[in-house]
Amino acid sequence: MPTIAFAHLKGGTGKTTSCINIAGCLVAKGFKVLAVDLDPQSSLTSGLGVDPATVQFGMGDVLLKKKEMREIVLETLTPHLHLAPAGLELGEIRAFPLLPSTLRSALLMIKGEYDYIVIDTPPADTGLIKNGITAADGVYLVLDTGIFAVEALMNVKRLFSLEQNTQFKGVILTKCELTLFGTPTHYVKDLQEAIEHGSNKPVFYVPFSKEILASQLQGLPLSTSAPSSKAAHAYEIITEQILQEVPHASS
Ligand SMILES: Nc1ncnc2c1ncn2[C@@H]1O[C@H](COP(=O)(O)OP(=O)(O)OP(=O)(O)O)[C@@H](O)[C@H]1O
Ligand SMILES: [Mg+2]
Repeated sequence: MPTIAFAHLKGGTGKTTSCINIAGCLVAKGFKVLAVDLDPQSSLTSGLGVDPATVQFGMGDVLLKKKEMREIVLETLTPHLHLAPAGLELGEIRAFPLLPSTLRSALLMIKGEYDYIVIDTPPADTGLIKNGITAADGVYLVLDTGIFAVEALMNVKRLFSLEQNTQFKGVILTKCELTLFGTPTHYVKDLQEAIEHGSNKPVFYVPFSKEILASQLQGLPLSTSAPSSKAAHAYEIITEQILQEVPHASS
């Protein structure tokens, strides 16, 4: 099953938001999608409308081999978008050694049940990030336009050997302010070009959008809650590229 992971070492860059909205775009295209929450913060879980406190079995149980994927998967408010949630159990995983291929093996058990799998990874926990990357056919690095996130890009690529790795498909720049005091700024365009030049991969941008917060409060992707917003359109463009880079067998 084509599998996409969203990653970066820096926190708060827009990984979960990208994962939710690209999942929504894939569903809008008619695909059946499983979203996997690998972050003990459980933001993907709550962003898809499931209260993490109500999660009985989650990804922590799968990674510790107490449960199989099929036993933990939940439906979400969006038809055809299922969730492998993270509850409190995932926070305890740090105490256990984790092989990087654990998630990949677990996903084999549900082979063919979904058209696409999207994986949200946490900032900083390299064991969980490695599991997400090892399970993925395509990895997108998600950064905001702040200098710390941009600087951390080199570290991420080095730490996970993404330079020589064909899984690394592109960069998503989020929360982009395209104007400053009402005046268009070239900052995002310049940054986009500089990263594209440095990494030889396409760099996509998602504008700063007030609809994102509203959609997350509703537990819905933008494709359902605000399909005509600029951010929804930006995620549609990224999804088009994903469909080319990590195609489904039917295409
Ligand atoms: N394009 C955007 N416009 C406005 N707000 C955004 C946008 N993208 C993300 N946000 C907001 O930025 C915050 C961080 O986003 P998100 O949780 O997706 O980042 P993250 O990289 O997953 O964070 P963490 O590293 O903690 O997992 C959230 O409050 C989210 O609603
Ligand atoms: Mg997150």
